[in-house]
Amino acid sequence: MQHLIDICDLSVAEIDRLIEKSNDIIKHRENYSEKCKGKKLAALFFEPSTRTRLSFEAAMLELGGSVIGFSEANSSSAAKGESVSDTIRTVGCYADIIAMRHPKEGAPLVASMKSSVPIINAGDGGHNHPTQTLADLLTIKREKGRLNDLTVGFCGDLKFGRTVHSLITALSRQNNIRLILISPQELKIPEYMKQEVIERFGMPYEETDSLEKAIPNLDVLYMTRVQRERFFKEADYIRLKDSYILNLSKLAHAKADLSILHPLPRVNEISVEVDDDPRACYFKQVLNGKYIRMALILKLLGVE
Ligand code: CP
Repeated sequence: MQHLIDICDLSVAEIDRLIEKSNDIIKHRENYSEKCKGKKLAALFFEPSTRTRLSFEAAMLELGGSVIGFSEANSSSAAKGESVSDTIRTVGCYADIIAMRHPKEGAPLVASMKSSVPIINAGDGGHNHPTQTLADLLTIKREKGRLNDLTVGFCGDLKFGRTVHSLITALSRQNNIRLILISPQELKIPEYMKQEVIERFGMPYEETDSLEKAIPNLDVLYMTRVQRERFFKEADYIRLKDSYILNLSKLAHAKADLSILHPLPRVNEISVEVDDDPRACYFKQVLNGKYIRMALILKLLGVE
């Protein structure tokens, strides 16, 4: 039985096959409408979500399966003090596969150790978000035609942004990726990411606090929100939240074929005027998230 807790649980070849499968699902949706008939997905969300939970649910429904679950910890017996392990052993009696989001880093890993069915990490604290990374990779592949030979800028909250950590990890296994890490001093990429991923795999990178200086060099710009829920002091969040706002005047200095990604939700960091620019890919990224989660469910359930 295979779980997906960290993006490295999938080999590069497995990710390539998921991307191929997603492209086939996009082309031939009708071929997949009954693939998971009789199967159930449990969506256990101990933390808020719009895209991840609903895309998992839509993915399973479009595969002909059904969905159970909860969207907040308070509506489950976690509110009475039940452990993650007991919750997972229970839900494994009702569902064939579980997608789980939890504010505690490592909770999905603990869950996978007790589970009788595949566990998918749908985001754990400020740690990892591997299925968002799959959506990001599918989007980059569809937009640029490749996952290598790219200069990728990550902008915003690189400290707490779990999608940033997972995507850099995935890109570290591709060839010739250059990183430009754009953040305020307080929200720089964590030291463990630098040492254990970026430097370990020899990725060329630079750090800057200037989006204006970085933008002309980028093939992909990955904007992120400042993660309010991870701050200890509200005053720090207020001070940092509008550090970067991408607008059309900044975009005027970017390449004509730049791809702008954002895992969403957006707060203020991309002006809505950018949405109509052909370089804006973030709503395509949302849709790609559903297709690649369909491909992932098929893989983890062993459905051909
Ligand atoms: N990208 C993402 O994880 O969005 P949600 O928090 O809405 O699921």
